Amino acid sequence: MMMSRRATTLAGMVGQRFFSAAAVSRGFTVAEPVVSGMAANLVKANPAVDAWIKSTPVVGVRLQSTLVVGEKDKEEIKKDTTKTGATEGAGNGGVEKAVVSYWGVQADKVKKEDGTEWRWSCFRPLDTYKADLSIDLKKHHAPVTFMDKVAYWTVKSMRLPTDIFFQRRYGCRAMMLETVAAVPGMVGGMLLHCKSLRRFQHSGGWIRALLEEAENERMHLMTFMEVSKPRWYERALVFAVQGVFFNAYFLGYLISPKFAHRVVGYLEEEAIHSYTEFLKELDKGTIENVPAPAIAIDYWRLPPNSTLRDVVMVVRADEAHHRDVNHFASDIHYQGHELKDSPAPLGYH
Ligand SMILES: [Fe+2]
Ligand SMILES: [Fe+2]
Repeated sequence: MMMSRRATTLAGMVGQRFFSAAAVSRGFTVAEPVVSGMAANLVKANPAVDAWIKSTPVVGVRLQSTLVVGEKDKEEIKKDTTKTGATEGAGNGGVEKAVVSYWGVQADKVKKEDGTEWRWSCFRPLDTYKADLSIDLKKHHAPVTFMDKVAYWTVKSMRLPTDIFFQRRYGCRAMMLETVAAVPGMVGGMLLHCKSLRRFQHSGGWIRALLEEAENERMHLMTFMEVSKPRWYERALVFAVQGVFFNAYFLGYLISPKFAHRVVGYLEEEAIHSYTEFLKELDKGTIENVPAPAIAIDYWRLPPNSTLRDVVMVVRADEAHHRDVNHFASDIHYQGHELKDSPAPLGYH
């Protein structure tokens, strides 16, 4: 009977969360263990246990898992969020709860040049840049070889259904196309990464260049999300298209990186055309030239009073850069070399 009661008591204690880290908002190093429930009674009754808990360092000892903060802490975090200007774009979904890490991993507070708090956790000031608006938007790779013609007409044939589906809803069109545009760089970069590992050789910077492209395209998406909200069937379409396109591009890149990069080069030429049409609609007033989203102002280092038109201009310049990088990559293969033989154009972003 004694054994049974003891077992029940212990089970009750184990079932409860009786250690939690108290310091919520500013990291883990000074977190003092908090004892609650039945365990609190045990501690009160036994000063030795109390002393042991207080002397036990939280850091480096796996005392508890991450926790949901209490109401008071939530209030403090909300206040803190308002003060720093953090938004959903900061990647925390409006910060409802905080996680205390016992791993010693903590993000630094970053400040802008003007001393104000940096509000994005998804990118840092180092990742920001001014787009090269002087880039030639009309450059076109004339398809000469059979493979180039296939790449060109593959892309051209995709334009018709896209035009029919989106018509003149360029904001939505841009957002949806960016969900596709961000795939090739990641797939190409991943495959080059694996190749570099397999062959014990450098990539010439091309892994990084392609991953930078993927990240830049994803930032286009994050930006257009701020001005256009996808409908349910558009979200469903992204699922389907991503499933098909990711695998098709993966296989295509394995078989012929020369062809894969050429396709992307032509896709980027189409993207430049789409953004030019977008600008025309903005100038005609059929699309409202709303203020630029805050994320775009910080990412492209735009003036504070920038508009959607300014954003489309810099995005279009990015697409022209991707066009040149991908046609260049394809040309390297055409000339019988591997990408690693020509240093990648790093540092654009
Ligand atoms: Fe893009
Ligand atoms: Fe692009």
